[in-house]
This record gives sequence, C-alpha cells and structure tokens, in this order.
Amino acid sequence: MGKKYTMGVLGLGEGRSIISAVLNSDLWDLGCICDLSEELCKERCQEFSITNYTTDYNEMLRNPLIEVIGIYTPDQLHATHIKMALEAGKHVICTKPLMVSLEEANTLLAVQKRTGKTVFVGQSSRYFEPLRRQHMDYMVGKHGDLVTLEAHYISDSRWFLERDWSRQKGFSWMYNFMIHAVDLAAWYLPEIEEVYGMAAVSANTKAYGLEIPDTLKFLLKDKSGRFASVTGCYATPTLGSSVEQSISCTLRGTKGISRGGYPKLQYYTNFEPLEKTAGLQTFDELHPYFFRFEQESHHAGEYQNYIEHFATALHNGETPKPDLKEGIHTLAIMEAMDTSIRTGERVFVDDILKKHIITLD
Ligand SMILES: NC(=O)c1ccc[n+]([C@@H]2O[C@H](COP(=O)([O-])OP(=O)(O)OC[C@H]3O[C@@H](n4cnc5c(N)ncnc54)[C@H](O)[C@@H]3O)[C@@H](O)[C@H]2O)c1
Repeated sequence: MGKKYTMGVLGLGEGRSIISAVLNSDLWDLGCICDLSEELCKERCQEFSITNYTTDYNEMLRNPLIEVIGIYTPDQLHATHIKMALEAGKHVICTKPLMVSLEEANTLLAVQKRTGKTVFVGQSSRYFEPLRRQHMDYMVGKHGDLVTLEAHYISDSRWFLERDWSRQKGFSWMYNFMIHAVDLAAWYLPEIEEVYGMAAVSANTKAYGLEIPDTLKFLLKDKSGRFASVTGCYATPTLGSSVEQSISCTLRGTKGISRGGYPKLQYYTNFEPLEKTAGLQTFDELHPYFFRFEQESHHAGEYQNYIEHFATALHNGETPKPDLKEGIHTLAIMEAMDTSIRTGERVFVDDILKKHIITLD
C-alpha cells in the first residue's frame, strides 16, 4: 500500500460521491467537507457519520493536515477554486469540466508551475469498469491499429435545466455533458487537430426559455488522419440505457473491435480469433461498488478508482492523468467544436490555442 493522503471536499452535491470514495479507500483519509450551505454540510455529516465541516473554503484551505482538495462546485467556479487551492499549497482533484472556457488556462498553468502542485481532472467515465477494460485491451494491442472510433453521450437531461446554474453564463450541454464523450475520443486520439460539427436547439430546450444547443454531432480528426465521431443529445426522449448506453465508446481497429459504455456494466468485444458476433462481458458483481446511492445516478465507484490512481501515481512520483495540460487540450478541442457549430467551418485546435496564447509543450 502507498502513502495515505488527506482530502478536503468542496461542494457537497455530487461531492457526496467523493466522500464515499474517500471513506472506502485504504489510500485516503477525509480531512474536512465544505459547502456554502450549512444545512447540506450537516446532512452529509449525518449521512457519513463525520463531524468536520465548514462553510468557509478559506478555512478548509488553512488546515495544514489537508494535502488535496477535491472540487465539486458548479462548473463556472472550478478555475477560481483550483487557483485558490494551488495557492494554499494543496494538490487538486477537480471534477469535469476542468473549466468552462480557456480564459484562465494560462493563469492556472503559471500557478501550477510556481507551486509545483498536481492538478488532476476527474474524467469519471475513463474509470468505469467497461471503459477501463476497453482501454487495457487497447493498450495491449488487441484492436491492432485503431482505424476509427465512435463516442456518444445521450441522455434526456431536461431535469438539469431546472437548476439555477444551468441558467447562468458558462453552462452548456457541451461542456457539462458532452465532455465525457469528447474526453474518451481524445484518450484514444490524443493528437486531435481539426474538428467539424453541427448542432441544433430543440423545441424542448426552447420551452425553458434557453437557446443552448442540445443536439450535437462532430467529426474530430487527428494528426495521422484518423477520425472519430462524437454525438450528444440531451433534451429529447431516449431508447433507455438497456437498449443504448448513455455513454458509449466503440473502437474499430485492424484486428478487433470493442464497445464499452455507461451505466450498464457491459463490455462487447470481438478480438482474434474473430467471431460472427461480439462476445459480452458483464461486471454485475461491481454494481454495488459503482452505484452506492439511489438509482444509477452517482459516481462513487469511478471516483474511488480515480482517487486511488491519483494517490498511487503521486506516491510513485508519476503524473496522474488526465492532468492540467491534457484537460486544457480537451477544452481547446471543445472550443474548436463550439466555433465550428457557430461558423459552419472546419476549425483547427492549434488556432484556438494560439488565440489564447497557450503553449502546452
Ligand atoms: N460524472 C461526473 O464526474 C460528474 C457527475 C455529476 C456532477 N459532476 C460535476 O460536479 C460538479 C457539481 O455538480 P452537482 O451536480 O453536485 O451540483 P450542485 O449544484 O448540486 O452542487 C454544487 C455545490 O457546490 C456548493 N458551492 C458553490 N459555491 C461554493 C463555495 N464557494 N464554497 C463552498 N461550496 C460551494 C453549492 O452550495 C452546492 O451545494 C459540477 O461541476 C458537475 O459537472 C461530475
């Protein structure tokens, strides 16, 4: 077992899952939890039989026992909260999306460099069992050379539009939801350089008085000429996750094919020797590990996997991935996608980085 790290958790909505992950991990201790709402702090304390809470983020940052801050506040606040944590000398685990724009990217890169602390982006889908297995199979070469991939995140998430912060500047289905699918594509094609896409605002989103594109399709091309398709649909009825996984990633290689997804613990593969139809592996025994609360709505299992990856990497002197630079590159892909749907043009990721004067090498 590696060193034990102590986490302070900021934001106690989905932060509930990270509390569960920390309390169930042999590699972590919980230092303190924090939310502006004292009522929510007390509710979480009661739920998890803990006592240490504060409504003041600065107070949590002053606690010398806390080495890592887990950030689960609304998307628009992540950049500020990461910067505050780094400046207080803490490492950071920040949920997706890392930020909602690239405006603060250079500031964060500079603060990270100055403080020497680590920033890890909690792209939870990478840590769900079928998608984790798919990556392992890919890394040992079972697919051969990757030819193309298809990723999607499709859910009827109109409930999300009821929230205050989904009505504030900076919220979009693309940054909050679709980033899961974009991150999976970028995991396999880390050198995506060009994007093209289309998007529409359905009448269902307009009914909320909002003009946020809820139906999106993109092609992402990497430097070697390989391309991925990425689809998002967020305000129309779905087939249901037993027919079509909410998140899905299909890898098509020269020697084999696989499909992993979320929330079903199902993984389809057809590797050599090839069969007519793919075989199915299920991980139903892990259902209680991944889904610890009501329904299949929270992400405690993925979070436990990623905080353990983080702790092990830090202990071994390695960089836990995805890190700040990778997170910023994914956001540059997203800004290129956003630009493409507004202009109808193909957009280059390097042009976005240049526009913001960001250097990632
Ligand atoms: N799969 C995933 O990784 C996943 C899933 C769900 C949510 N998320 C992310 O988690 C984040 C939170 O989402 P949520 O659904 O819990 O939202 P939420 O609105 O339910 O919770 C956010 C909490 O942050 C608190 N907060 C805001 N500003 C604060 C401050 N300055 N100090 C202390 N507390 C503060 C709010 O009081 C609120 O309780 C979002 O960025 C979302 O994208 C990730």
